[in-house]
Amino acid sequence: MPGADKRAAAIFDVDGVRAAVTGAASGLGFAMAEVLALNGARVSLLDANESLLEAAVKELADQGAIVTGEILDVADPVAVDRAFAAIAERDGGLDAVFANAGISRGAGIIVEEGKVENADRDAYQQVIDVNLNGVLWTVQAAARIMRAQKHGRIIATASTAGLSTEAFCGYGYIAAKGGVVNLVRQAALDLARDNVLVNGIAPGPFYTRIGGPSGADPEVVEYWSSTVPLGRMAEPSELQGVVLLLAAPRASTFVTGAIIPVDGGTLIGPPISAFSRPTAGFVR
Ligand SMILES: NC(=O)c1ccc[n+]([C@@H]2O[C@H](COP(=O)([O-])OP(=O)(O)OC[C@H]3O[C@@H](n4cnc5c(N)ncnc54)[C@H](O)[C@@H]3O)[C@@H](O)[C@H]2O)c1
Repeated sequence: MPGADKRAAAIFDVDGVRAAVTGAASGLGFAMAEVLALNGARVSLLDANESLLEAAVKELADQGAIVTGEILDVADPVAVDRAFAAIAERDGGLDAVFANAGISRGAGIIVEEGKVENADRDAYQQVIDVNLNGVLWTVQAAARIMRAQKHGRIIATASTAGLSTEAFCGYGYIAAKGGVVNLVRQAALDLARDNVLVNGIAPGPFYTRIGGPSGADPEVVEYWSSTVPLGRMAEPSELQGVVLLLAAPRASTFVTGAIIPVDGGTLIGPPISAFSRPTAGFVR
């Protein structure tokens, strides 16, 4: 019975859950796979980067987790279908799928080459292929399995850049993440009567590999930190509570079509420090 045991450990229990995470070899995807696997889920890590994937699987397997790794390019719908069908066949079903793989390409509008007139078409197309189409192919493959088994959780990684503007991001990224937000809502409606819950996570700035080597650049860190009311970027582990909330069969059983920000307050507006000091006229 859902909720029969009211202890937090029971509500957030993912022991035995069959889960798959795309983009699981690094950053947020690895944090998702890690929290699921180290709490007893059987996790398939899917990623396009073979060496990173091998290292990620080894790191979790060395801690006793039940994990496997599959090379997958989420932009290839045939490969996505094949990979997910094989996982479900091997494990006898699939309970939770994280459509997380993503890239960032194309300059933001804060620089000349990122302005709309100059937006690079190849970069735009690459980002749409992975960050938007890749999510749809993943949701589609998951739905083919989950609708038939009449249960499942699908969680897509959107971004604050899908719910608001972000001057540092390129057009492909903004468009793809905006698309993911409404794709999640549409799929949630589509799958609701089959007990498949579809939700999104909207992260703010996290320390991952997505920005390339410049990710750790102090100027970049300072920029991102200045956009966050909590005043800093986040570690991938700070996403893990929400991952358990959305994936655990007894948690969030009445949550679908939601986009949950994990953003240090970014979406509530610019930090107070972004405004200049009020003049005497504002102070009453
Ligand atoms: N880091 C952030 O600040 C941030 C903020 C908001 C949203 N996100 C989103 O989080 C998700 C994960 O990104 P991250 O920040 O952890 O970056 P990351 O680069 O550390 O990890 C992304 C992983 O996805 C894999 N990948 C890339 N293209 C792929 C493809 N075509 N098929 C399969 N795997 C592929 C990469 O090999 C890598 O392992 C992305 O969707 C990203 O847009 C990140």
